[in-house]
Amino acid sequence: MANPTYQGLEVLYTREQIAERVRQIGEQITKDLAGEKLVMVGVLKGAAPFLADLARAVTVDTTFDFVAVSSYGKSNRTSGAVKLIKDLDEPVEGKNVLVVEDILDTGLTLTYLRKIFLQHHPKSLRIAALLDKPSRRIEKIEADYIGFSIPNLFVVGYGMDYAERYRNLPDICLMPPGAPE
Ligand code: IMP
Ligand code: MG
Repeated sequence: MANPTYQGLEVLYTREQIAERVRQIGEQITKDLAGEKLVMVGVLKGAAPFLADLARAVTVDTTFDFVAVSSYGKSNRTSGAVKLIKDLDEPVEGKNVLVVEDILDTGLTLTYLRKIFLQHHPKSLRIAALLDKPSRRIEKIEADYIGFSIPNLFVVGYGMDYAERYRNLPDICLMPPGAPE
């Protein structure tokens, strides 16, 4: 592959497969929220490319907001603790909220965010996760929209990182176990 960042990585989902799946999810969201307004809340930083593409795949009157949480630090291992680093800019009371996340893994992050957002009394609260790893779940939580369901693999690209690298890869790639940082 021409991009040297791909060294040692195997493509799991190509940009074309991602684009097609995002288009389908966008269509579904457009149907589900027909005639409504929507606030897409992206979880920084991993969900940024997914949010950018998904937002352009819906024809709903949509605004953006972003939150940032810390949970994984600089490694690929969870610390179990989730902390809000950046809160919403605008209150979401009475609004239709779609939380946009890169991966639903243990579920700790989205369980924490869902609890916080529900305290704002939104009109509705939905979750879109590009990837789902159901076998890793600790908290009982499901997304309303899932791009792809995958086994317990570590992936990078299309927003997702390993120690902050690889977020700009256009495809979703597999990180081989024991790969050097
Ligand atoms: P959860 O709280 O365990 O569900 O963690 C979700 C977060 O962990 C995601 O938003 C990602 O930032 C990160 N994460 C989980 N699995 C992966 C992976 O395979 N690659 C990169 N980041 C991951
Ligand atoms: Mg994340």
